[in-house]
Amino acid sequence: MGINFSKVNFSYYIPRKKQNIRFVLKDINLNIAKEGEFIALVGHTGSGKSTLAQHMNALITPTSGTLNILGSVINKKTKLKPIRRKVGLVFQFPEYQIFEDTVKKDILFGPKNFGLENPEEKALEIAEKMGISDLLNRSPFTLSGGQLRKVAITGILASDPDILILDEPTVGLDPFTKTELLDFLKQLNEEFNKTIVIITHDMEVVSKYIKRVIVLNDGNVVFDGSKKELFSKENLMEEYNLDYPETIRILKHLSKRLNVNLDVNQHSIKAAYEEIVRVLGEKHE
Ligand SMILES: Nc1ncnc2c1ncn2[C@@H]1O[C@H](COP(=O)(O)OP(=O)(O)OP(=O)(O)O)[C@@H](O)[C@H]1O
Ligand SMILES: [Mg+2]
Repeated sequence: MGINFSKVNFSYYIPRKKQNIRFVLKDINLNIAKEGEFIALVGHTGSGKSTLAQHMNALITPTSGTLNILGSVINKKTKLKPIRRKVGLVFQFPEYQIFEDTVKKDILFGPKNFGLENPEEKALEIAEKMGISDLLNRSPFTLSGGQLRKVAITGILASDPDILILDEPTVGLDPFTKTELLDFLKQLNEEFNKTIVIITHDMEVVSKYIKRVIVLNDGNVVFDGSKKELFSKENLMEEYNLDYPETIRILKHLSKRLNVNLDVNQHSIKAAYEEIVRVLGEKHE
């Protein structure tokens, strides 16, 4: 069992009379498998994405309903350390999760705290991969926003969690680092079967990397399915103000302009090109 939400409601504030509660998450029913998923959580600002992500490693707990993480129902008595070891959460704002006085101490905190074998080896390997090896002796509070984000991500990856939740991990990263990070996550997903959940506003990321998309709107899950299905639902894309990835936008435009029947659901330039050649070739035969 992975992460299961059943009829979960959540409010940050519960008035004494328990009337007029403003639920930020409403009747959430979700099943996230322990292995192999690559999910994007999308939705406009304030729709509840970060709140939902923080439930996924029991950082906050439901106001009502049942949350089950890796076989444990979350309540006041649940032991949280094993859950935090297995479900890593990278915060939207990295400064919230960094507290040691050097980068090295910070990225070693998780692996040491969870009693991993060779904590230093793993952490330094990930630091190398994330391109922060030259920052190890710096104080995190002297770093740039992008550097700080890389440190926060390294700290979580260093604990080698089974499930990884990343809240807008690519914000503030340069294009090279962004691609490296996403390719690395893809590798963790494909080679090590890790479940990865990314919160993002970037539909290019969804198009290129993601298997399953969950759309939140005003605290409700309004879509849960494949990206292909999502991008084919024009009403839904419009209603929730979601952008199409560039390849789909171009193919839709061409399809209309040339009045041809292109399969617009292509997720790489190469696939889009082949689709154009296929259809235009046919048309000219
Ligand atoms: N600590 C808090 N106390 C009270 N209300 C909060 C708190 N954190 C978030 N909220 C409110 O809960 C709602 C959902 O916020 P959340 O941060 O989960 O949205 P989000 O989808 O992650 O938004 P964004 O895309 O801007 O990061 C918003 O209305 C927000 O104002
Ligand atoms: Mg957020």
